[in-house]
Amino acid sequence: MKVLVVGGAGYIGSHTVYELVRAGHEVVVLDNLSTGSAANVHPQAHFEWGDIRRKSDIARVLAAEAETGTPVDVVMHFAAKLIVPESVSEPLAYYENNVEGLRTLLEALVEGGVRSIVFSSTAAVYGEPTSSECHEGDATEPINPYGETKLACERMLKWAAAAYGLDYCILRYFNVAGADASLEIGLDKDRLTHLVPLLMQAALGIRDKLLVFGNDYATPDGTCIRDYVHVTDLARAHVLGAQHLLTNRASVLANLGSGRGFSVKEVVDAARDIFEVPFEYAPRRPGDPAKLIACIDHARETLGWEPEHDLHSILKSDYDFRRKLMLAHRPQAERRCGGTEG
Ligand code: UFG
Repeated sequence: MKVLVVGGAGYIGSHTVYELVRAGHEVVVLDNLSTGSAANVHPQAHFEWGDIRRKSDIARVLAAEAETGTPVDVVMHFAAKLIVPESVSEPLAYYENNVEGLRTLLEALVEGGVRSIVFSSTAAVYGEPTSSECHEGDATEPINPYGETKLACERMLKWAAAAYGLDYCILRYFNVAGADASLEIGLDKDRLTHLVPLLMQAALGIRDKLLVFGNDYATPDGTCIRDYVHVTDLARAHVLGAQHLLTNRASVLANLGSGRGFSVKEVVDAARDIFEVPFEYAPRRPGDPAKLIACIDHARETLGWEPEHDLHSILKSDYDFRRKLMLAHRPQAERRCGGTEG
């Protein structure tokens, strides 16, 4: 199949491009490089600079591919803003990029004759879940603008699919981490807010220590429980999702996690099997639900997907990637932390 990956120069998009290329598919990446990097794009993928909020950018790429005689079969859409605290302080930027961006993209797809889309959604649509694990049919009550914009996008997709004969695969991500086995790509940004990369920075001496936000939640050890999924497993689910759309012409909505929950303290303890992590407890972070665990039965049944990497593998690959980055950019810091191997 020929896939247009919008946002394919970012973290999850670039890993999906690697999996698509490995599976022998043809890939075109459209990205405005606002957060991604051209260096993340697989050398066998064709890169085009463009912005999803400008219909002409998408139309130009779709028309050029159609002219080659093999038009785009399916679009994967990763070009979104995704930092929860930022969405609280800048909600309108999130509505513009995420909601207006998808509306423009869908308009271009309808006009360009592409009818299948794989869409990145999030566990944030569930808000503060009341059951022990999240099922796709559960109530959606986002507690931040990021989750609200993704829920608005999910609804837009459903209405647009019904009106214009599209089919969609909506994938609700839980906590994504880790790096590709090649260590060519990973989460390489400085502005990090997520647990695993911050934990790695503490392990590598890039920051003094990890702050564990809150140890008074209603969980066994008082720290928040999350469901961690390896980015390569997540990427593979997108390939399966696209194939499902092209084969069955039926829309899907599925959670992507591991189906297992780990508290922040358990993640720190698991990391300590590989390296030392200095940490300290700090007050709760606003907007954090106590527990988010996915039920992944639907992804298993409809896509034939099964996560293959465990928490150890997530942590080890992230550590190896970050250490490689550090060796490339900060040889002094590496000498300071002694070059611990996993
Ligand atoms: N945490 C720390 N210290 C840190 C960073 C995080 O203790 O330095 C804790 C958080 O408080 C939270 C857990 O680690 O309890 C996980 O936090 P992340 O920031 O890694 O991830 P989130 O659970 O906040 O984010 C994920 C997805 C979002 C989604 C959100 C829904 O990445 O896309 O779940 O709550 F919106």
